[in-house]
Amino acid sequence: MSTEAAKTEVGSYFISNYPPFSQWSGDALAHIQNAMANPPRKQLQRDGTSLETPLGLYLHIPFCRKRCKFCYFKVFTQMNAEEIERYVSALTREIELVSQQPVMGGRPIRFVYFGGGTPSFLSVKQLQSLFQRLHQSITWEQAEEVTFECEPGTLSESKVIALRELGVTRLSLGVENFSDAILEENGRAHLSKEIHKAWDWIVDADFPNVNIDLISGMVGENWDNWRENVRRTLELSPESVTIYQMELPFNTVYSKDLLQTQQAAPVADWQTKRDWVRYAFEEFQDTGYKVSSAYTVVKDPSKVSFSYRDNLWRGSDLIATGIASFGHLSGVHYQNVPEWNQYLEALLDEDRLPIGRAFVPTADQSLIREMILQLKRGYLETEYFQTKFETDIADRWKDVWAGYVRDGFAEMKVDSNGHCNRIELSMDGLLRVDALLPSFFEPQFRGVRYT
Ligand SMILES: C[S@@+](CC[C@H](N)C(=O)[O-])C[C@H]1O[C@@H](n2cnc3c(N)ncnc32)[C@H](O)[C@@H]1O
Ligand code: SF4
Repeated sequence: MSTEAAKTEVGSYFISNYPPFSQWSGDALAHIQNAMANPPRKQLQRDGTSLETPLGLYLHIPFCRKRCKFCYFKVFTQMNAEEIERYVSALTREIELVSQQPVMGGRPIRFVYFGGGTPSFLSVKQLQSLFQRLHQSITWEQAEEVTFECEPGTLSESKVIALRELGVTRLSLGVENFSDAILEENGRAHLSKEIHKAWDWIVDADFPNVNIDLISGMVGENWDNWRENVRRTLELSPESVTIYQMELPFNTVYSKDLLQTQQAAPVADWQTKRDWVRYAFEEFQDTGYKVSSAYTVVKDPSKVSFSYRDNLWRGSDLIATGIASFGHLSGVHYQNVPEWNQYLEALLDEDRLPIGRAFVPTADQSLIREMILQLKRGYLETEYFQTKFETDIADRWKDVWAGYVRDGFAEMKVDSNGHCNRIELSMDGLLRVDALLPSFFEPQFRGVRYT
């Protein structure tokens, strides 16, 4: 795992879960089956009362027009209409099967996330049919947020209108960069013209929340172009902007080329990528945006909630559907099978859920997971962990924190009794947060492959 290395090397950087996915296995399948077959686990409070665990739904749509050279997601680029229809049927059946499990416990779905791949790859007809079929077994009328990821070149005016009518509240647009040369070099399927066309339709459709994704450090990026990216994003004035720092996990086109040729990555080093994000954050802040996590700025925090992100980072349940997607139910992590035939056959031929591997975290591992995910917001409230896990996180990891305070990455805030009630990251700390997290891992998971 690359951490502080100055150069961008091949390996995972972004941490989205704990323990690492490489540790999950088929041996733990009975645990997720058991979790599904029982009523949902409640969240115990310090005063002995318990709260219902919030429930969300993730749907993976694995199709893209082209595979971007930096992308590590499970995607397919050559599927015909018939194969897509089979996938949609399998996904519908999967949701039907999950909705019958006792773990649902009559809970409303609080947040929905269509991710990919490219959900907007589906045609208007395919989308309408998918939603109509899904609603036969599941409703999300009470959802606070329905997110839908889009690639600009897959949108049309009628598709944008259809998404709004189908109840999408948060449209996330993968802009990544505004330079046609850079978009092309990195294998994106769209050019800047398509961003602007899509943008007008999106504005007209009046979604409560529109997010733009950018990547700091695409191949060919430089300071002048990055400033231009920030300027053009500000001109569009979306409710939120997410900026990822380019990483090169093992299974990307760029990584494979690099490993074969043994050459240095054509991607800026980590310090430069952080400088670009810092510059962007400062520019956005100057026009009133607020930094809401290591990756996100938000125009008006009172209007824009991040239900998916915030619930997940606080240990909510998440039903994972679609090929290779991962979720969490009643204290058990699980992931669906990653192969096309395995996924379709499980659902369409064998009529069973396509779960491939699972992991039962200990209470301590659940604590570490929530702590490292919440640290991505830039602060931790110690009382939350004391209440939920009966652990004083400031004391438990005092040596790690002391090192981060010494390096200027963190600050320990104390109350009038001298007790640390909040840990805050500095901007330097926030911009490298994923590199700070492995220090909280248990020794057996440090240095292991992440995915
Ligand atoms: C599933 S894609 C978003 C929707 C759509 N597929 C698209 O690309 O427009 C999720 C996001 O992950 C980010 N991403 C993908 N590969 C990355 C990498 N190697 N490093 C950093 N960010 C990456 C991109 O910003 C992308 O928008
Ligand atoms: S970044 Fe988006 S469009 Fe590109 S391959 Fe990955 S999922 Fe598909």
